[in-house]
Formats: sequence, structure tokens, C-alpha cells
Amino acid sequence: MFESKSGVFFVAGLAFFGFAFLSNALVPAMMYRDLPEKKVEELANPNLRYQFEDLAHRFPEAFKEVYGTPPTDSTEASDWYNGKIAEALTLGRKVYVGEACWHCHSQFVRPVSNEDLRWGPVSSSEEYQNELQRPVMFGTRRVGPDLSREGGRRSSDWHAVHFFKPTELSEGSPMPAYPWFFDGSPDKPNARGLALITYIQWLGSWLESYPYYEDFVPSPVAEITLESDATE
Ligand code: HEC
Repeated sequence: MFESKSGVFFVAGLAFFGFAFLSNALVPAMMYRDLPEKKVEELANPNLRYQFEDLAHRFPEAFKEVYGTPPTDSTEASDWYNGKIAEALTLGRKVYVGEACWHCHSQFVRPVSNEDLRWGPVSSSEEYQNELQRPVMFGTRRVGPDLSREGGRRSSDWHAVHFFKPTELSEGSPMPAYPWFFDGSPDKPNARGLALITYIQWLGSWLESYPYYEDFVPSPVAEITLESDATE
């Protein structure tokens, strides 16, 4: 068998397949055997909470219509926010999948080509150990930038205007416009718009040391009264 080249390639092929299976399937499966998969309800974190509260301030009418008004009691508010964030993340991911955002955007910072200089820390497999990564959104191509560190990089109203009409903020952008995330204008995001912005702000928000978040201080719960409530 080893007299012929094809025999050597055949054996080498099998060996490489075996090695790939070992390193890409068995080793990770063993490493993360004891790491439970997080439920979507466990994914809220202070950075994301900050962004979600910020949505309430930036789009008071739209926020109130979709999520209602947060309770004033701080313990109740905490549960309330966690619940609404989970709801928003679930819908946001559905929209991300349904609109095929993954066709142009990856969610994986690779340990090559100095990607970490552009996007932040290289992705680690434990980051994918949660419900919102089933299946993972690694993406297919990179027509647009990797989004796994997008949270906190742009403000939520930047995202609103960008989703409404990308060329408004990025000249010549090939990204499609998504007017159906809004009830008319970019300052009126609907349930899908708010959910998608929450999902985008979630990406990378779990990294505590992520540089974009250094200056962020979650606002105290006591201050969360929607502007529209104050006038009532
Ligand atoms: C046809 C390919 C394409 C599709 C589909 C697409 N995008 Fe993009 N996206 C791009 C390109 C190219 C850019 C860079 C230019 C720009 O900012 O518009 C970009 C930029 C972005 C940015 C800004 C990144 C940054 O910080 O500079 C975000 C966020 C984003 N896209 C999210 C989405 C989401 C969410 C969807 C699905 C609703 C989506 N994109 C669909 C191509 C695409």
C-alpha cells in the first residue's frame, strides 16, 4: 500500500481527520464538560444593563410601549430588568438570524492576522457556552466587520440610525437598510429594533476588562424613571 502515492495520502488523510476530530471535538468537549450551558436569563450583566437602561432614556416612548415601566423598588427592578433583557436578547437573536446578518458578519475574533488589535481579545470557547449561541453565529463571510466585540463600541442611537439607513453614517455602505425595525423614523424603534440593538450591545459585554466599557458606570436604579413618566 505504501508503494503507491495514493496509499500514503490515504493513510495521511485518515490520520489528519483523526487528529482534527481529537483537537476540535473531543478536547473541547472534555474541557467544557463541567461548564454548564448558561440560560438566556443568566446573560444580563452590568454592561448590558447599562445599555438597556440607556435605551429607556434614549427612546422613552418606544421603550415604554414595548417593555412597560420598570418598578421603582430596586430589588424588583433588578428582576424586572433581567427578565426584559432575556426577552430582548431572545428576540434580537431571532431577528439577527432571520435577517441573515450572519451572512455578512462573523462573531469570532481569530488568533491570526492581528485581529485582536482591530477587534479586541481573541474569542475563547467558553464565551459560546450559552443558549444564545445554539447554533453559534460564527458567520459565513466578512463583508462587514466582526461583531463579537461590538457591544459598547457604538451608542444605541448610532445603531438606530445605522439600521435605518447605513449610508447615512457610513458612506457607500453595502449593508441593507432595515426600515421595518422602526415605526417611521430612526427615533422610533419597534420591538424588533429595540431587541436587535440590545442583542448587538450584548456582544462582548460579558468581557469585564473590555476597553470600551472602562468608563461605563451602570446608573443607579433609583434614577430610572422614564422621561415620559416625569411629565405625567
Ligand atoms: C450585505 C452585507 C451586510 C448585511 C446583510 C448586514 N451588514 Fe452590517 N455591515 C456591513 C458592512 C459592509 C458594514 C461596514 C460599513 C457600515 O458601517 O455600514 C457593516 C456594519 C455594521 C455594523 C457597525 C460595525 C461597526 O462598529 O463599525 C453593525 C453593528 C452591523 N453592521 C450590524 C448588522 C446587523 C445587525 C445586520 C442584520 C440586521 C447586518 N449588519 C447586516 C455589511 C452587512
